[in-house]
Amino acid sequence: MTYSRILGTGSYLPEQLMTNAMLAQRVETSDEWIVSRTGIRARHIAADDQKTSDLAYLASLKALESAGVQAGELDLIIVATTTPDMVFPGVATILQEKLGIPGVPAFDVQAVCAGFVYALATANGYIKSGMAKRVLVVGAEVMSRLLDWSDRRTCVLFGDGAGAVVLGESAEPGILHAKLAADGRYRDILKTEAQIADGGVSGAPFLHMDGPAVFKFAVKALSDIAEKTLAEAGVAQADIDWLVPHQANLRIIESTAKHLKLPMEKVIVTLPEQGNTSAASIPLALDHAVRDGRIQRGQTLLLEGIGGGFTWGAVLLRF
Ligand code: UT7
Repeated sequence: MTYSRILGTGSYLPEQLMTNAMLAQRVETSDEWIVSRTGIRARHIAADDQKTSDLAYLASLKALESAGVQAGELDLIIVATTTPDMVFPGVATILQEKLGIPGVPAFDVQAVCAGFVYALATANGYIKSGMAKRVLVVGAEVMSRLLDWSDRRTCVLFGDGAGAVVLGESAEPGILHAKLAADGRYRDILKTEAQIADGGVSGAPFLHMDGPAVFKFAVKALSDIAEKTLAEAGVAQADIDWLVPHQANLRIIESTAKHLKLPMEKVIVTLPEQGNTSAASIPLALDHAVRDGRIQRGQTLLLEGIGGGFTWGAVLLRF
């Protein structure tokens, strides 16, 4: 049986840090409100000349280095993003050009904050079916460009960044189980509805969110999918070494952990310094904890994310 396994991880955060105090100078908010409602203290913001593909490239180089894999050995690139450099071509092909590997198939996955689990599950399918042996899977976002910086309900929540993994063929698992879900009936509670038509942009070009509705939906959907993923894989909650959740709100993370009866010591939290980086948040958290030595080879990890669409999913794996 062929499995897929994470061979290496990498990430990149833009240099510019925007603190809650800096935001409080722009909109009517406070460090106290943002920290108590979300857990966020600061977020990284891409420089004006940095695009999503630039962040993706820097994260990818680190993932390739940690995997000991040359770019030329890749046979597929998947980039999860909801903030592509342009309408088309996709970020994955721009990244492929930056990596200097013409010919390698490359495509984007658009599942917003669930994008990385969707991309990882897709890469797993490619490897298990024999269609690929080494896949670069990236989550990269410049969320700051979707924000209305005068809307305190959304501009305090998001940040920019990129994370990447190299997923490779393996005789041993690897990914134990992946489960994805979507429900388009909830598409209006989290969206950026702008459309390009007739040489112009129509509709609101800013991220819109009904925060409380998203919060309620996220807590239930994430708990349900985590439970189902574990049950279908025949793995007990007690066997999880680390929960690596999408980083949207500390209260959502805490309630999912509580539902899984996992103490917060077993949960990777990068939200305070990064905010919500959408599709980048899970691989950023993963790489952070691999590099600081908390996540070790052989441990069991549960990755889970949820985003606009609604889309959500979980990946259970042995690291
Ligand atoms: O990654 C995709 C998934 N996204 C999420 O998971 C986000 C889910 N939602 C949330 O995290 C929370 O709903 C928020 C953090 C967005 C909001 O927290 P909340 O506790 O649900 O607050 P709320 O929206 O109910 O607003 C409470 C009050 C309102 O004032 P009034 O109407 O009670 O007078 C807001 O206007 O807080 C006000 N408020 C703020 N005050 C200071 C909203 N944003 C701010 C702010 N600073 N930044």
